[in-house]
Amino acid sequence: MSPVDPIAMRRSASADETTRVNRAWWDHEAEGYYREHGAFLGDDTLVWGPEGCSEDLLGLLGPLAGRDVLEIGGGAAQGGRWVRAQGARVVSSDLSSGMLRTGRAIDRDRGWAPMALVQCDGQVLPLADASFDIVFTAYGVLPFVADSAAVLRESARVLRPGGRLVFSCTHPIRWVFPDEPGADGLIARFSYFDRTPYVEQRADGQASYAEHHRTIGDRVREVVAAGLRVIDLVEPQWPDGHEQPWGGWSPLRGRIIPGTLVVVADKTDDRPTQPLI
Ligand SMILES: C[S@@+](CC[C@H](N)C(=O)[O-])C[C@H]1O[C@@H](n2cnc3c(N)ncnc32)[C@H](O)[C@@H]1O
Repeated sequence: MSPVDPIAMRRSASADETTRVNRAWWDHEAEGYYREHGAFLGDDTLVWGPEGCSEDLLGLLGPLAGRDVLEIGGGAAQGGRWVRAQGARVVSSDLSSGMLRTGRAIDRDRGWAPMALVQCDGQVLPLADASFDIVFTAYGVLPFVADSAAVLRESARVLRPGGRLVFSCTHPIRWVFPDEPGADGLIARFSYFDRTPYVEQRADGQASYAEHHRTIGDRVREVVAAGLRVIDLVEPQWPDGHEQPWGGWSPLRGRIIPGTLVVVADKTDDRPTQPLI
């Protein structure tokens, strides 16, 4: 570790600080992220997480032909491109101009029609009410914001009645364990109930990265409070023969604990439901 490397810790991080530092982080990391994970993701494939489960296999979004679809936290819009190829009209959005630039470069280099890209924060979508049939994200936005309930409210707002939200994120149980791909990553060290954010902080006390934890119950409660009905909670299993790790996601851990949670929810009507607790 060099003296300028940030230090990982658990400490509070406000909504503004979280969004500001994560925007800078993803801008800075955009090229490196694509270099490291681009081949695994594919330029026009919707992969829900490091287990490699694709929408092609899981079919969580429902029928796509002729639908209006919004991707939030879409990064370089790989998932959006796959959805477009199924006959949907797709807008892919992301907070980071660096990630969107990577998406632009993919279209240019491949000679593909440019994706419709919007730069915005998933907590405040600059889009009209009831303008999409489907909103989705693979690991975008939700782990990287303090106010995930706002992301769900905004997603519900832009969905038409009968619409569907699907998002994947780090499985909440992962917060109990160190983010290590090896055996150390299987020793429970933290309380599942401790929602203190994970922050990487530089020597000057400024954060450079932040992630926020929600339990499964929190996630369900926030979806319900946004006026959506949970249809499924998918915990993709690590497939036999898949030996490629992704940071702390590895075959060793993936065979024992879930790494990804995919939440599927429908908008049945416009009235928010009261959470039970
Ligand atoms: C792990 S990447 C996932 C990107 C893409 N969905 C994929 O599967 O490669 C997380 C993405 O969330 C985006 N993001 C983080 N905070 C966000 C926010 N508040 N609003 C919108 N996007 C955000 C990042 O810029 C980044 O592109």
